[in-house]
Amino acid sequence: MTSGGDAQGMNAAVRAIVRAGIHKGAEVFAIREGWQGAIEGGDHIVHLGWSDVSGILNKGGTVIGTARSTEFRTPEGQLKAVENLIARGIDRLIVIGGDGSLTGSRALLLRWPDYVAQLLEQGRISREQAERHPRLFIAGLVGSIDNDMVGTDMTIGTDSAMHRITEAIDAISSTAESHRRTFIVEVMGRRCGYLALMTAIAGGADYTFLPESPPREGWEDRMVEVLGRGRAAGRRDSIIVVAEGAADREGEPITSQRIQQVMKDRTGEEARITILGHVQRGGTPSAYDRWMATACGVEAVDQVLSAKADAEPVLVGVKRDQVCAQPLLKAVEDTTKVADFIASGDYEDAVKARGAGFTR
Ligand code: F6P
Repeated sequence: MTSGGDAQGMNAAVRAIVRAGIHKGAEVFAIREGWQGAIEGGDHIVHLGWSDVSGILNKGGTVIGTARSTEFRTPEGQLKAVENLIARGIDRLIVIGGDGSLTGSRALLLRWPDYVAQLLEQGRISREQAERHPRLFIAGLVGSIDNDMVGTDMTIGTDSAMHRITEAIDAISSTAESHRRTFIVEVMGRRCGYLALMTAIAGGADYTFLPESPPREGWEDRMVEVLGRGRAAGRRDSIIVVAEGAADREGEPITSQRIQQVMKDRTGEEARITILGHVQRGGTPSAYDRWMATACGVEAVDQVLSAKADAEPVLVGVKRDQVCAQPLLKAVEDTTKVADFIASGDYEDAVKARGAGFTR
């Protein structure tokens, strides 16, 4: 299943999982449209063979579809999903999704025994089915351009998104230089500034705003001064990269429009805004996202197929370029802690708690 926002490299993971599963003797199904497909059942759950995943390695998005399901957040939705999985004899599941989807998967796992008991009581499954499915073994792969999940250095799609953003910054720089302009480039990442920070470095930007590092009071003057110094040194363009979730220390969003107004008020310049939007999430996956998703997909199959009766769900990711598996529930809890730290203004703790990606 792929779930939540799509990301480049999800298809590589799907392909690897299907083929490694078949190679190891499993019968493999795809659940189309994420957890919503599990709720709807029927032809949303389809059997996949070796050649069904041919020619998808280099395609962006996810060929098995994805969705952000609000119904899955309700106990009724989760109960239906459990019923459909049991009806198809599915006892092992690999979810490729972002922190939201993996958090949802955790919720379902914790309540699984209750749901099975309810379904049995309501006569929706037989006693034999209930006994065959005392639990569901889950492995999670993080598919998200945001790189916001604790437990893996990189999430599937981040590298491709960084390539796309860097290309865009390069393109913007050339027109900005011609006109001696300032551009504000807004990038995705929700509550995580990884994409903004890394592409600001890779694109040689002058200034960046990140959710984890809200600027201190007086940032407006400092920004104008830094940009002015660049111009004084002969630079013809100025590039500001702003993460979509950036805010100041009072929690007021630092939007592209706000930065544009600051520039106008202090320098008189009409800075241009480019919001990259979903371009960052579409298109061809990078080589890194292809091999990393493939390696993690194969490991996830090993994990679910070798899971013992008391096995905990795992998160499969990469740490220091090694594929690794660790407890999914802890990774989800630790990711929630990061969001809580940011919400309460403990930015240093948030960065430490995330512990992913670039470290010194
Ligand atoms: O989580 C991935 C992401 O692309 C975020 O960076 C962004 O905030 C969000 O999804 C956009 O969601 P949607 O595609 O539902 O508009």
